[in-house]
Amino acid sequence: MILDVLTSRVLKQFTETYGRPPRWMVAAPGRVNLIGEHTDYNDGFVLPMAIEFYTVMAADFPSSSSSVSVFDTLFKETAQIEVSRPITRGEPKWSNYPRGVIAGFQRRGEKIPALDVLLHSTVPLGGGLSSSAALEVSMATLLEVVTGKKIDPVEKALLCQKAEHEFAGMPCGIMDQFISVMGRNNHLLLLDCRSRKTELVPLDDPAVAVLIVNTNVKHELTGSEYPTRRKQCEAAAKILGVPSLRDATAAALEDAKDRMDPVVYRRARHVIGEIERTVHAAEGIRASNWPTVGQLMYASHYSLRDDYEVSCNELDAIVEIAEAIGVKGGIYGCRMTGGGFGGCTVALVKAAAVDAISKKIAADYKKRTEIEATIFVSRPAAGATVIKG
Ligand code: GLA
Repeated sequence: MILDVLTSRVLKQFTETYGRPPRWMVAAPGRVNLIGEHTDYNDGFVLPMAIEFYTVMAADFPSSSSSVSVFDTLFKETAQIEVSRPITRGEPKWSNYPRGVIAGFQRRGEKIPALDVLLHSTVPLGGGLSSSAALEVSMATLLEVVTGKKIDPVEKALLCQKAEHEFAGMPCGIMDQFISVMGRNNHLLLLDCRSRKTELVPLDDPAVAVLIVNTNVKHELTGSEYPTRRKQCEAAAKILGVPSLRDATAAALEDAKDRMDPVVYRRARHVIGEIERTVHAAEGIRASNWPTVGQLMYASHYSLRDDYEVSCNELDAIVEIAEAIGVKGGIYGCRMTGGGFGGCTVALVKAAAVDAISKKIAADYKKRTEIEATIFVSRPAAGATVIKG
């Protein structure tokens, strides 16, 4: 849904809920990562884009309340966040994202006033498209406009990442929050997660489209898989004697193979290869060399499947179907995107073939898994914006 339509829907919902129009409105997008998976917390490169799916927040001062009340239109429940004292974790669970961001502003010495907020998101939950980062960045953007204090974009993204670490207990890297803050229309963001320097890579060829397929599965693991991967990467770096896997080479890894647990070795092999693939993919995109970019995407998927072991049967099924369709059928490349264990794949396709490809993937995926996929296309979108205020 385009942002204009979404905005008028949220304006109406706020007015119906609170009996008056909102004073402020902001939006922050979800993201899809074209390539560079599980590299951000290894100081590597990532290449995401913001998507045309947003978390919108509308707000006003309350008529009577001393807390920030956030009404979520999806769960149809309100979180009451008491802002006259330091914020703690609390219920409902989703409220920990806004709680963490409010805490970050308080830490910066900002006094947060009581607010009536309505929250409406079109970013699919649990789809690996960073609904949580969109929520955090949306809250941060709202607080910027409410307090009148704009934060430097890097600091803003880091504040949101900290909220996720401390209030949601997820030790994520910096990719999701950075792209939700810094996305640009028709551009990918090549982010160096060590220096935090960004470079915009145009993706504006009308003949090429980014196709996202949601497997509509989310394998509930214990939640320990992500932190475990991080630890394995740190262990590999330690054995290699480097500060992070960004500093390691494939040759050094081979030399150290005998001194390494085989699983740790494979994790490191993924990360080292993926950092290289990401840099090459950015070059390929700048040169409009779509077949090369596509091959790098497939290689990324195999590495995530075999070495990093964060894929699942449903994601693999989509990638296999994509490969069978091939460049002749309009697909340059396809891979899982995001943390893994379900969620979405991302594919680079010929725009003219989108309809035929979508039909074929939907049918074949249904046949193989008995699950309906959700398929959509997104242009690279802009990062967080103030709509009203
Ligand atoms: C999640 C995290 C990101 C990143 C990806 C994997 O989305 O939030 O920081 O590590 O997984 O690339």
